[in-house]
Amino acid sequence: MQTQMSYPALSTVWAPVRGNRVRRLALKFLGWVVLGGMLAAIVGCSNPLADPALQATPTRNLRAPAPAPAEIMPPARPSVVRGKPLYEENCVACHGNRQVGYSIGTLFMNPKPTRFIYAENLRQDSPLTYYRAITKGVLGTAMPAWDLKLDVQQRWDVAFYARSLPATPDAFKGGKELYATHCTVCHGDGGEGNGPQAANQPRHPTALADPRYLVVQTGQHLWYATAGLPDLPDHNWASVLSQDERWQIVNYIWTFMYDPGFTVGAFQP
Ligand code: HEC
Ligand code: HEC
Repeated sequence: MQTQMSYPALSTVWAPVRGNRVRRLALKFLGWVVLGGMLAAIVGCSNPLADPALQATPTRNLRAPAPAPAEIMPPARPSVVRGKPLYEENCVACHGNRQVGYSIGTLFMNPKPTRFIYAENLRQDSPLTYYRAITKGVLGTAMPAWDLKLDVQQRWDVAFYARSLPATPDAFKGGKELYATHCTVCHGDGGEGNGPQAANQPRHPTALADPRYLVVQTGQHLWYATAGLPDLPDHNWASVLSQDERWQIVNYIWTFMYDPGFTVGAFQP
């Protein structure tokens, strides 16, 4: 009885809609728009590059952090070659690499270990931040301290190996070429700050390869620096290079600290 009573009532509501093809199409269209919007929101939230902090134009008062104190520097230049076996022995089970994803042991870890193979996970941390996390562990997470197991040099080596994981031979080549075209004249071939135009600048171009400069930088800071510097508005390639090309240059700048002659991608299958 109840159903019979409500049926005619429902059909009265729907009748005008069902009867009108245009209105029905309009409703359908609206449905797709709403669904599309929801999907876009989900994709937008999960894409780390959509982070407004990474997209925003830099502020004019961007200042580089002070150089790292000499006493925290590695005894020798960090070596990704020495870092590789250390990483495979101690870190791969949690952090994975290009062949190994998350292991079953990380299932209940919260937060999950950082996936270093994704460049965007590295952009907001400096090598020094990594060194400190490795040395003391990360409080409140499964990340243990390694200061008793690995010596100072080994911790720097493994930090740099972790940071080399996203680099692919193609991106490396692209970054190298872009750097040669746009940056070498002032900053020098290997980032020594001694390019042919260096002497004619209002300030001496930064020696990007100086380890004490580089270990305190974040990728994000280096990236912003290619879109204008305080009192150097022309230090801006934002309209000439795409955002991605500027990231390729940044990824190339990190390699100034790798072992001499090391080829990025040499470890990848
Ligand atoms: C038992 C699992 C486990 C092992 C083993 C482990 N880590 Fe971690 N690691 C973690 C977790 C969990 C985090 C926290 C991630 C976060 O805070 O989002 C972390 C964080 C880090 C961070 C900070 C990264 C960031 O995004 O802030 C670094 C660097 C790091 N680990 C390096 C290493 C290195 C190098 C080794 C090997 C020497 C290693 N980890 C071994 C689980 C592990
Ligand atoms: C015409 C010369 C010139 C060119 C070309 C040039 N730079 Fe610079 N760069 C400078 C000068 C000058 C400074 C400022 C040094 C200072 O502030 O003490 C600088 C500083 C920097 C800094 C340090 C900023 C900071 O806050 O630490 C970075 C990073 C940088 N340049 C990257 C690049 C990159 C990448 C390119 C190529 C896309 C490039 N530069 C091309 C002259 C140049």
